[in-house]
Amino acid sequence: MKTIYSNQKKDLDVLKVSDSYERTLKDQNSLRGIEILENPLTNKGTAFSAEERIKYKLKGLLPPIIEGLDQQLKRVMNHLSLKPNNLERYIYMIGLLDRNETLFYKVLMSDPARFIPIMYDPTVGEACLKFSDIYRRNGGMYITIKDRGKLKEILRNWPEKDIRFICVSTGGRILGLGDLGANGMGIPLGKLQLYTACAAVPPAKLLPLLLDCGTDNQKLLDDPLYIGIRQNRPSIDELDTFVQEFVDAVQDVFPSCCIHFEDWRGIDAIRLLARYKDRICCYNDDIQGTAGVAVAGLIGAMHISGGELKNQRVLMFGAGSAGIGIAGMIASAMHLDGLDEVGARRQIFMFDINGLLEKSRTDISEEQKLYTHINTPTKNLAEAIRAIKPTILIGVSTVGKAFTKEVVETMSQLNQRPIIFALSNPTDHAECSALEAYQWSNGRAIYAAGVPFDEIRMDGKTFTPGQANNFYLFPGVSLGIYATCPKLVTDELWIEGGKALAGLVTEEQRAKGMVFPPQSDILNISTKIAERVAEVAFEKGLAQEARPEDIPNLIHSLQYEAKYPRIN
Ligand code: NAI
Repeated sequence: MKTIYSNQKKDLDVLKVSDSYERTLKDQNSLRGIEILENPLTNKGTAFSAEERIKYKLKGLLPPIIEGLDQQLKRVMNHLSLKPNNLERYIYMIGLLDRNETLFYKVLMSDPARFIPIMYDPTVGEACLKFSDIYRRNGGMYITIKDRGKLKEILRNWPEKDIRFICVSTGGRILGLGDLGANGMGIPLGKLQLYTACAAVPPAKLLPLLLDCGTDNQKLLDDPLYIGIRQNRPSIDELDTFVQEFVDAVQDVFPSCCIHFEDWRGIDAIRLLARYKDRICCYNDDIQGTAGVAVAGLIGAMHISGGELKNQRVLMFGAGSAGIGIAGMIASAMHLDGLDEVGARRQIFMFDINGLLEKSRTDISEEQKLYTHINTPTKNLAEAIRAIKPTILIGVSTVGKAFTKEVVETMSQLNQRPIIFALSNPTDHAECSALEAYQWSNGRAIYAAGVPFDEIRMDGKTFTPGQANNFYLFPGVSLGIYATCPKLVTDELWIEGGKALAGLVTEEQRAKGMVFPPQSDILNISTKIAERVAEVAFEKGLAQEARPEDIPNLIHSLQYEAKYPRIN
């Protein structure tokens, strides 16, 4: 394995800017003039100095003004403000990435919280729907199921040789939009941009990849502009064989790489994660990232209520993939706090479309059985709450307004500080709004949602609802993975990352009911999470790198800074 510490001996400026920039210039020393401007890794636009313009034969190809990155940033912001909507801003930003990678990341990192809704959810969903129409240039790799037998060879075509993360999707279930086939490429592209925007993971280390296995979306198959292969999705066996070859090829071509699975069809995601999570360095953000953020929110809630997670009773309203994933991570967190695994699960209950999951039910899966206890059957949520007496109620049901006044009042009668997370999205699917939770609990609820809700003033007090957004956790955890190359990405790494996240909320913020720190501080948040993840990876013997004396220094030395390198 190539050790990262050898990198640290290099000039830090060069390392932080981009290895690939240096390499591109070195490998292609014949690059001159227009070619330099047309390469997004070498182009500085109006930031080329007078000497560089002469040396690289750029005179006449640029306007006379010589600007710094900050001025270029201002110009981009002006352009963006003239765009009529976020999809147009997204298209503009992708165009910028095609022209000038450094400036693109300078813009993105100037205010990640502002750019996430443009470059990721919700705009990326719209972009994926129109991906064939707006497709301009590839920013990642497409490998199709027809390429079986040649995957290593194809991966070697990628110009960067030290890839640390591949974000891979089959386009099987893009956000809430279903099967988008090869158009799902927008997701790996966007997700990896968030690694850099939120945690400063160097973009040269990241490879977005679409495993094109066909699509069952007839509209796409009939679209003459569709960019993917025109066939239906394969059988489970065929898919799994293809994925196995892919995993083997990645391990061979990029031995230090962590595979990040994203937006696969639910059943494929669960099955493949179960197969690989204890064998290779990989994770699925839809499952583990989501659950990790929910647990981080609960730990944040414990800081407010003064309780301990291992003493809580949890009712999951919704027992689908999100519910099962969150329940599993809560059980892991309780186990790490000292409970045995069975004892932890005994404190977690589930409720689905057919009512409370209890022993007499015959319609429940193996995963759900773990959280099925001896209870009186009921289809009434408030009644189940009175029977179980949960301290925590988590909504992942997709059913808007399911947490009625009676439900919130019942939670409030049983608990001084009822913890109510209404995580279903979009907004009209939230099980209750922030206002409802605060009003019906007389301001006692500790509330978080899956979508943003505005601050609320009530009885002279300010309440700031939390948003359990995955970007709080996966970029920081990934930065910790980058620094340590762990053999596996265990639940403990997510939970400890979540504890670091919750620990960043100040007393003043807790007084407003905040369970997560402000999104505007995301780079600092991700850095702190990475430090904790790295510490645990070293402590638990997961890391494949030697432990440095100073972990924060290691993390900092690896982070990307959007600035132009000197050209000599
Ligand atoms: P799913 O379809 O797998 O599961 C839905 C569950 O809700 C099922 O167990 C179903 O029986 C239950 N349900 C449906 N109608 C119900 C009713 N009337 N009463 C009680 N239970 C009912 O969906 P999945 O993937 O688990 O997602 C659920 C929700 O969670 C979605 O709205 C999704 O957007 C949200 N979510 C939020 C996240 C976040 O905030 N970070 C992350 C992941 C999911």
